[in-house]
Amino acid sequence: MNSEMEKDILKVLVTEEELRQRIGELGEELYQRFEGKNPLFLGVLKGSFIFMADLVRTAQVKSDVEFIAVSSYQNATVSSGRVQITHDLQQDITDRHVIIVEDILDSGNTLAFLKNYLLTKGAKDITIVTLLDKPARRTKAITADLAGFVVPDEFVVGYGLDYCQQYRNMPYIGVLKPEVYSN
Ligand code: PRP
Repeated sequence: MNSEMEKDILKVLVTEEELRQRIGELGEELYQRFEGKNPLFLGVLKGSFIFMADLVRTAQVKSDVEFIAVSSYQNATVSSGRVQITHDLQQDITDRHVIIVEDILDSGNTLAFLKNYLLTKGAKDITIVTLLDKPARRTKAITADLAGFVVPDEFVVGYGLDYCQQYRNMPYIGVLKPEVYSN
């Protein structure tokens, strides 16, 4: 496949096949946990959109989907710490089992904020599923219930993750060349 973006990638961190395999396992685990419980999958935009689409198709449980959009980076490479909701829930989540679907757990600011926010909105319980977990950068005491891959403290893009809104459409997770973001 031709790709204009490949020249900006230092190395591939997680291949398409590894993603497919691991997301299948996560889906099966969610099925075991939520069969008969009608959970709500809540994707955190924009980064989770591709993971969400694949995960809900591997977790063949009766459920519905919802999205929320938050931002704390505003094109920076380090979290500002201030999380803003840019697109809010469009439905009542009172007494729902909510499965938060994230692309990456980094400082933890986003998920710490969201977990608290969803509990104030009446969620029955919250399960955090993140595709990538970067524990080296954690500043908040928050852990994922399920994580796809633990990644090192490198600038990762692809499969939903961006740098300045680009690279989200790469089908794998790659490390960006430092010269791309230090210019
Ligand atoms: C990214 C990512 C997570 C968050 C994780 O979102 O999608 O939501 O940062 O980082 P944290 O653990 O340090 O809070 P971003 O604000 O870049 O928006 P995006 O999803 O639209 O890319």
